[in-house]
Amino acid sequence: MATAQTDPHARSNFWKWFDAFRRAPGMWAYALNRLSAIGLTVYLFMHLIVLRTLTEGPQAYDDFVTLVKSPVFVFGELVVVIGGVYHGLNGLRVALTAFGIGVPYQKHMFYAVLIITAVVSLVFGIHMFTA
Ligand code: HEM
Repeated sequence: MATAQTDPHARSNFWKWFDAFRRAPGMWAYALNRLSAIGLTVYLFMHLIVLRTLTEGPQAYDDFVTLVKSPVFVFGELVVVIGGVYHGLNGLRVALTAFGIGVPYQKHMFYAVLIITAVVSLVFGIHMFTA
């Protein structure tokens, strides 16, 4: 049996993980779904920690709201919006194909997910940075 030591291709196989250009669209859809899932989960915990400031009184919460109005935080919120919209729409695509619906069009659905995510994120971005 070939092991990492005996297989002459083991090293090149490892680096293929980082070769973005030979990936099929389905692989991109999966990788982006996992990335957005991890991001949303981390955000959920950060959100809960931040909500704790409510227990410190109105002044503490108002101070926090002032802080998150800075462009860095607004950009971070936009990233959450992008991740949330993508993950939700791609989740529907995964659910549909899991039920055997639209399987031949799963690549087209992925492209539609990307386009809708881009349009929705653009609208959100304009609104968030101009409001
Ligand atoms: C509109 C709402 C959502 C929908 C429709 C949705 C749908 C899905 C689906 C279908 C999967 C499985 C993907 C696969 O098997 O390839 C998944 C994975 C996952 N989702 Fe969601 N999701 C939603 C919201 C969220 C939110 C809000 C979070 C976190 C706070 C989250 C966290 C995760 C995690 C951690 C995974 C596992 C990812 C992985 O194993 O790669 N999801 N979601």
